[in-house]
Amino acid sequence: MTEYTVGMWMYSNGGGEAIQNKIVSQLRERGINTITNLNLANATAQGGVITCGNVVMEELDAFFSYNAGQQTPYQVYLYQVLNESVPCLNNYNAFALSEDKLKTAHKLARAGVRTTDYRLCNRTNKQSLKQTIREWGGRLVYKPTDGWGGMGIVKVEDERSLDMLIPFLDQTNIPHLYAERFVNYDMTDYRIDIVDGHFVGCYGRKAPADDWKTNITSGGSIMMREPNDELIAIAKQAAAITGLEIAGVDIIYDLEREEYVVLEVNGIPAFATPEQEAMGLNFNNAKIARIVDLIERKAIEQRAVKQNVHTLEPMLSKQYA
Ligand SMILES: Nc1ncnc2c1ncn2[C@@H]1O[C@H](COP(=O)(O)OP(=O)(O)O)[C@@H](O)[C@H]1O
Ligand SMILES: [Mg+2]
Repeated sequence: MTEYTVGMWMYSNGGGEAIQNKIVSQLRERGINTITNLNLANATAQGGVITCGNVVMEELDAFFSYNAGQQTPYQVYLYQVLNESVPCLNNYNAFALSEDKLKTAHKLARAGVRTTDYRLCNRTNKQSLKQTIREWGGRLVYKPTDGWGGMGIVKVEDERSLDMLIPFLDQTNIPHLYAERFVNYDMTDYRIDIVDGHFVGCYGRKAPADDWKTNITSGGSIMMREPNDELIAIAKQAAAITGLEIAGVDIIYDLEREEYVVLEVNGIPAFATPEQEAMGLNFNNAKIARIVDLIERKAIEQRAVKQNVHTLEPMLSKQYA
């Protein structure tokens, strides 16, 4: 049996460590060794290789990067470089896309997936924001394009509030302003997990009574929720368009337009925590199984590519001799 070695960097809080152990042992059963805790923050690049501790990253057959905390530009930069020679999950390009709300919404919209109405405005053109709030019936949602956990998101409910916000934005170094039409919804959402094109789980979140944001960090609470076929189809489509092998698709229902709207596609959707599992969220094992399949396939493909290069090398050198 061929021995493969893959690398992994996964969050350990909220039950992450137990999930990691399961992934590692299931990979082991398939002849795949896993080196864990490969945090690119501790890596350096030189002479054609990235070294993390004493591990040469380029020798890995695949790299599974699953840490929900915000990554530093350094980690992200090395992730991008590594992705050139080792299959990374998620692949870097899709990960980078999913970190940006405008790029994600734009790509989805171009592919015909319903997203919220959005507009990117030049910060030097304040009038365009005023124009936007007028067009959207006197309301808009301002969002940092790279935010998370509901942070920095502001609902502006009239033009006067916008007049208050603009001088504040002027003091920041935000290069451009991203706004969305406020969707009238029931303050609950769907989080649908897709791995490698397969549906693995669904739950919902409910905003607290005094907020319109469903994020857990904004006080939102988890609810059990069954998806319908339409939701699953939308989530699969959104995952495919973003290119994420592992995706958590957030969807709300627009009460006015009577349609589902994709709010965002998360590239590092968390597993259910032990507390959430106790509530009945039982998708972890299905998700782990799909991720293990995915890592195995990527590792086998990578090894085949490397071996082909080696068999081709002598032929090529003869050809050019
Ligand atoms: N355009 C919108 N209309 C209505 N509610 C929204 C809109 N955008 C975001 N929300 C609410 O705010 C929450 C956070 O927004 P989101 O775009 O997912 O940012 P984050 O990356 O910070 O989670 C969503 O879960 C949803 O409840
Ligand atoms: Mg969100």
